Parts: sequence; C-alpha cells; structure tokens
Amino acid sequence: MTILVTGGRGNVARSVVEQLLSAGEKPRVISRDPAATRLPEEVEVVRGDLAEPPEPVLDGVSAVFLYADRGGVGGFLDAARSAGVEHVVLLSASVVTTPGDPDDPLIGLHASAERAVLDSGLAWTFLRPGGFATNTLAWAGSIRARGVVAAPYPDSHADLIHEADIAAAAVRALTEPGHEGRAYPLSGPQSITQREQAEAIGEAIGRPVEFVPQSPDEYRATMAELGMGHLADTLLQHLAGQDGRPLPVVNTVEVLTGRPARSFAQWAADHASDFR
Ligand SMILES: NC(=O)c1ccc[n+]([C@@H]2O[C@H](COP(=O)([O-])OP(=O)(O)OC[C@H]3O[C@@H](n4cnc5c(N)ncnc54)[C@H](OP(=O)(O)O)[C@@H]3O)[C@@H](O)[C@H]2O)c1
Repeated sequence: MTILVTGGRGNVARSVVEQLLSAGEKPRVISRDPAATRLPEEVEVVRGDLAEPPEPVLDGVSAVFLYADRGGVGGFLDAARSAGVEHVVLLSASVVTTPGDPDDPLIGLHASAERAVLDSGLAWTFLRPGGFATNTLAWAGSIRARGVVAAPYPDSHADLIHEADIAAAAVRALTEPGHEGRAYPLSGPQSITQREQAEAIGEAIGRPVEFVPQSPDEYRATMAELGMGHLADTLLQHLAGQDGRPLPVVNTVEVLTGRPARSFAQWAADHASDFR
C-alpha cells in the first residue's frame, strides 16, 4: 500500500518524503506545484489541490500525511474515506491545546482541521508541534544582505523544532502500528529567545548577526512584504505572550524516534547555506 504525502513543497513534507524513502517506502506526493517540490526524481509527484484531489492520487493509498490546509480538508477527507484510506497523520499545532483568543487564525486553522479529521471517521494521529525552526528563514534575506535580524521582542521565547524531527515523528506514525487515536505534542529540546536564535545563526555562518529590535508597525510592514500581513497581529500577540517567558519543552521526539530532538544550533548548521 502507498503512503500519500500532501503539500509536497512544504519543509516538513519534503523531509517526510526523504525519510520514507530511507525507510524503504515509495511515497506518492501531491502538490499544487510539482516542479517546485525539489524531490528526488524517482518520487511520483501528482499535481493537485487538496480541495479537489484528482481521483487517481488516492488509488491504493493506506495512509496520508496531511497539512491543515487553509482551504479546508473536509472534501479531501471525504475522498480519502471513499478511496479506502485507513489512517491520517495531521500536521496540527500545539496552540490547539492552549486557551487563547477564539478568533486567533492559527488556533482556528488547526482546531478545524482536527475536527474535520475526527468527523471523517478515519483513524488519526495528530502531531502538535510548537514553533518551527524554519520560521527564522524569514530573516535570511536581511542576514545575507546586512548581517542583521530586525524583529520585535528580542527576549521572546520559542520551543523551536527541526523539520526533520517533526518528519521523523510523522514517519513513525505513518509506518508503525499503535499511533492511532494519539495526539503528540512536539518541541525542540530547549526554549530559546529570538536574540539567542540570531546568535546561533551567526555562529553557524561564522559571522556575527546583529539583532535590531523592531516596533510593531515596522514588523507589520515586514510581514506584509513577505505576503503574511494577515498574520502579523496574531504573531505579535504570540511574541508578546512569550516575552521573557521560557516555554516548557517535551521529550516526545525522543520517545517516538529513540533519538533526542535536534537543537536550534544543529538546525542553524544544517541551514547555514540559506543565511550565507
Ligand atoms: N510555523 C510554525 O511555527 C508552525 C507551528 C505549528 C504548526 N505549523 C503548521 O505547519 C505548516 C507549515 O509546515 P511547513 O513548514 O512544512 O510548510 P510550508 O513550507 O510553510 O508549506 C506549507 C504548504 O503550503 C503550500 N505552498 C503554497 N505556496 C507555497 C510556496 N510558495 N512555497 C512553498 N509551499 C507553498 C505547499 O503545498 P503545495 O506543495 O501543495 O503547494 C506546502 O506544503 C503551517 O501551515 C501550520 O499548519 C506551523
């Protein structure tokens, strides 16, 4: 049986595919832009949107790695059930378990995806990571150009996790029995401030990175330039909420995979070329 990986261009999806290949699986991938997936040639990549999955993409599929797509996942789950899919591993988020603003789009997106998976009647596993280390790729342009990170709340904490660790947890859930009906909180091994993240990137690239605190309005303008203006206020709220407040971390990556979660310093070393 085949494992289907959705959102092939995503950082986590790419790592899930690589790790499934290493485990001897032959995953199929669906993406809106197959040419941009940068996956090995032997991987079957089907062009498609989750809202209207092309029928053959689900043929012979037993398990799916699913993103909480902004367009909703209900239609995809109906098609998956009809096609005989047995198990869905959803990339959700830790925010679904924290009491917060009911209008928060990050909570809403993941809570409604979890609800749709529960309503589908398919067997499920929820992966609930905190912050992604790849969020700091938003700083890559200014680090490359000027050796600078401009951001608000330098002392705001995050429990940043390496995409390869999220993917490793996903691969266990997709390929081993016993993960059905389980929701796994996931985090990196330490709570780390934004200033410390910039320092770690500087160490990885061998030149110092200066942290320049931004005002909320400057941050909104930067986010708009990155095409994420709609999330600026939500993210400002999350950053303010963690200002000077370390986050608890969990050891689920180690429990699931047998190896400790990778540090942010390791992530920065793995991604040094993005910042040079
Ligand atoms: N960032 C965080 O801190 C955080 C925390 C908890 C949970 N999450 C969840 O994780 C998701 C992000 O995961 P990720 O980092 O693996 O994904 P990503 O790189 O942000 O991409 C997510 C998906 O967006 C689609 N996409 C649309 N336009 C794209 C473009 N220009 N470049 C790349 N992909 C594009 C891709 O699907 P197609 O290939 O089908 O187009 C891709 O799979 C979030 O959306 C959220 O649901 C994030």
